[in-house]
Amino acid sequence: MTRLETVQSATEVEAIRVEALGKAGWISALMKTLGGMSPDERQVQAPRIQALRARVADAIEAKKAALEAAELEARLASETLDLTLPAPTTPKGSVHPVSQVMDELAEIFADLGFAVATGPEIEDDWYNFTALNMPESHPARAMHDTFYFPDTAPKGGRMLLRTHTSPVQIRSMVEQGAPIRIIAPGRVYRSDSDATHTPMFHQIEGLVIDRDIHLGHLKWTLETFLKAFFETDDIVLRLRPSYFPFTEPSVEVDVGFRWDNGKRVLGGSGDAEGHGWMELLGSGMVNRRVIEYAGLDPDEWQGFAFGVGVDRLAMLKYGMDDLRAFFDGDGRWLAHYGFSG
Ligand code: PHE
Repeated sequence: MTRLETVQSATEVEAIRVEALGKAGWISALMKTLGGMSPDERQVQAPRIQALRARVADAIEAKKAALEAAELEARLASETLDLTLPAPTTPKGSVHPVSQVMDELAEIFADLGFAVATGPEIEDDWYNFTALNMPESHPARAMHDTFYFPDTAPKGGRMLLRTHTSPVQIRSMVEQGAPIRIIAPGRVYRSDSDATHTPMFHQIEGLVIDRDIHLGHLKWTLETFLKAFFETDDIVLRLRPSYFPFTEPSVEVDVGFRWDNGKRVLGGSGDAEGHGWMELLGSGMVNRRVIEYAGLDPDEWQGFAFGVGVDRLAMLKYGMDDLRAFFDGDGRWLAHYGFSG
């Protein structure tokens, strides 16, 4: 018994059990001696040996239980968790404001029956310029700060990074014919860089081609989408005559804003005291020459088109003030504007 008190492990206890109670153990040997005894002697010895065996078995069980309890105790002590500690934070990704705005716009325009169309960012000169009524020598080309590739384009000129999403107008008309109701969101490129210009930025093009489409449809569509996007009915637009080679007439659209704590907030007429107009997008009725270039009959089909800067829409909606921060990939900047996961 004293040996049992000092052992530390379950394997040692098991060894003691085998030595005592196993087939060749000493208690088993004692039991066997009963067979050689006289009945009287056996009557005296049998209960004593059985009592001894029971005591030894009990002691062994008790020791085993005690060792197991101690082991559990030790494990619990070493594996302690402090549930009051703050959980470690795992940084999560989030949707970029530009993607968010493109998704919002796709949803708004889907409600108006517009499908989403796409085109390549590495574009053929013909789709980016010529078919948009900007032939080789057209001065409007110079305003586009184009990144050219050395390769010759299949339709003449050189391959380039598209300078606007307008080539998707041509691709849609060529590929699907009329009628058309699409928006085309995507990246565009111009060799220009400062606080309000980045060499890559985002536009959404809109194009409607149908019979009897007029400027009123354009104005209603723009008003409806801007009210939905900015979640307010207080949107006042100003349409100014402008010039784009691919629209006639061309209309530049401004939106009225007021100053609030140094920030522009949309709403009200830009002519009111303390208000102003902000240029928002270019648009117009699709030039009949463009419709012709795309292989449709301009006497049968008319339409309107518009192009709007997505980054600018995002800045306006979410109150961001430096365009370049959009492309720095700084999680703290995203989090500041409520964009972290
Ligand atoms: N593509 C023009 C731009 O990038 C915008 C525009 C699109 C104007 C469609 C009229 C019609 O400035």
